[in-house]
Order: sequence, then C-alpha cells, then structure tokens
Amino acid sequence: MLKKALESILSEQESQELISSFDQIGDIIIVRIPDSLLSKKKIIGETLLKQVKIAKSVFYQASAVEGDFRTRNLEILAGDNKTETEYKEFGCKFIVDVENAFFSPRLSTERERISNLVQNGETIVNMFAGVGMFSVMIAKKKKCTVYSIDINPIAAKLCEKNIKSNKLVGNIVSINGDALQIIQEQLQNKSDRTLMLLPERSDEFLESAINATKNGGIIHYYSHIHADKKSDAGKLSEEHYLQISPVKSEILGSKIVRAVGPRYYQTVVDIKISK
Ligand SMILES: C[S@@+](CC[C@H](N)C(=O)[O-])C[C@H]1O[C@@H](n2cnc3c(N)ncnc32)[C@H](O)[C@@H]1O
Repeated sequence: MLKKALESILSEQESQELISSFDQIGDIIIVRIPDSLLSKKKIIGETLLKQVKIAKSVFYQASAVEGDFRTRNLEILAGDNKTETEYKEFGCKFIVDVENAFFSPRLSTERERISNLVQNGETIVNMFAGVGMFSVMIAKKKKCTVYSIDINPIAAKLCEKNIKSNKLVGNIVSINGDALQIIQEQLQNKSDRTLMLLPERSDEFLESAINATKNGGIIHYYSHIHADKKSDAGKLSEEHYLQISPVKSEILGSKIVRAVGPRYYQTVVDIKISK
C-alpha cells in the first residue's frame, strides 16, 4: 500500500529502499532518506502521513544515533512536531521520546529473550537502561529487583513513568547517573544478571559490569563486530570477550541481535562469571 502511495513520486527501487528504512513508533514515523532523495523529503513525509492512518507525525532522521545519550536529531516533515509517544511491546506500554532519549523498536526480540531467561528472585543491574524497556519487560513477568541506570535525565524520568504505568510483579529502581559510579558506590556484587546494552563501549565498562555481578552471576555482553561471514559474528564476539575479560568465564551462548551495517553486527554473548 505504501509502495503504491509512493509510486507517483519515487521509482520502484527508491521506494523499496525507503520502506525498508522507516520505523513506526506509536503514532510517529521516522524515516531515513538517502541523499539522492532529500529534495523530495517534504512530499515523502506528506505521503507517508496521509497513507499510514494512525500516524500523527513524520520525521526525517537528520543525524546518526550519537553522543553519550545515544540520541539523534529529527526534522519534522509532516504533522505534529512532538517527539513523545506511547509505544506498546509484548503487553507492556511505554512513553518514549524518540529524539531526547534512546529508543529502538528493533531490540524487541532481544528484550523478549532476556525477559524469558530471568528467574523469579533475581537481582538485575541494567547498566544502560534508556527509558526502561528491558527493565519493565522483565519486571512485568518476574518477581525480581531491577536496578535501572541511565545517565540521561530524560531517559531516567521516562523510566519512572513507565514503571508507574505498567502492572509489574517485580520491583524496578530507576537511577539517574553514570553506571560506573553508581555500581562502585552502591551495587558491588549485587546482581545475578547484568545487562550492558551500550555496545559501542562495552569493553570500557566490562570491569564495572563484573564488579556489579555476584560470583556465578551472568553478564549479557553486547558489542559490535565486523564479520565477513554472518555465521561467524557470534563466535568472533565470544573470542573477543575471552581475550579481554579479566575473570574466569563460561560462555553460555552468543547470537546476532541485529545488523548495524554491511558485514557489521550487534551481537550478544551470555557469560557466567567466576570470581
Ligand atoms: C543503546 S541505549 C540503551 C537501550 C535500552 N537498553 C533499550 O532497550 O532501549 C544506551 C543508553 O546508555 C546510556 N548511557 C551512556 N553512557 C552511560 C553511562 N556511563 N552510565 C549510564 N548510562 C549511560 C545512554 O543515555 C542510553 O540511554
């Protein structure tokens, strides 16, 4: 339907490229537009707004995800210029701000996987929690305690809202601050499971993740890795982790979370540590 709508303004190949690179988050559409089509961005925005019935805003992603807060600049193309919206995932609802706090719908399968691994009674440290997506999905299902840390005050505020607006069986403590410092001061040897979803900087924070985790606890180590063959990406991440880890580690498994570029992948390695 969308392709049909774009038919009058784009070639078949152009519209294919555009459709594979847009995200719909609640009533907001975010589209990445190749340089060759930038002159048509307004009409693309207006067409998308007209065609996607529940959409109230269409934004063009004007920068990569960047900076400490992992946020992006958005430019309004059509509709309301508001970046907060409600988003639903696996029975949880979230208020997200698509410009001022990190959020990606493309991690939903991974959030579901992790929330299924958690056992009742666990304590979890979510070092880079954003608006609390993993934390809420986990605490919705499991009687556990999640320390949900983020350095971006807007993300931490939204996390607090998201804790309140979901019926949780577990407990989430939202903390605004630097994970390194918070762990050092309050959370040493506290967690049965530590999540470190800041893949660009995992190596820098590995020692802190180990510091937070109990002997025998699990770390979910996310990273970015180049691999000529897609099937090698998980193994290469495991090897990288084993090279840099200062503690005895049992690899429980690894997988690709998503592709982030040509022959470039975000991966996760699940590790049981001994210390
Ligand atoms: C990739 S996002 C996290 C995604 C989140 N887990 C989710 O599912 O939406 C990384 C987050 O780490 C936060 N961050 C960056 N440096 C940090 C630090 N030193 N301590 C705590 N949070 C940090 C950013 O503000 C950002 O929200």
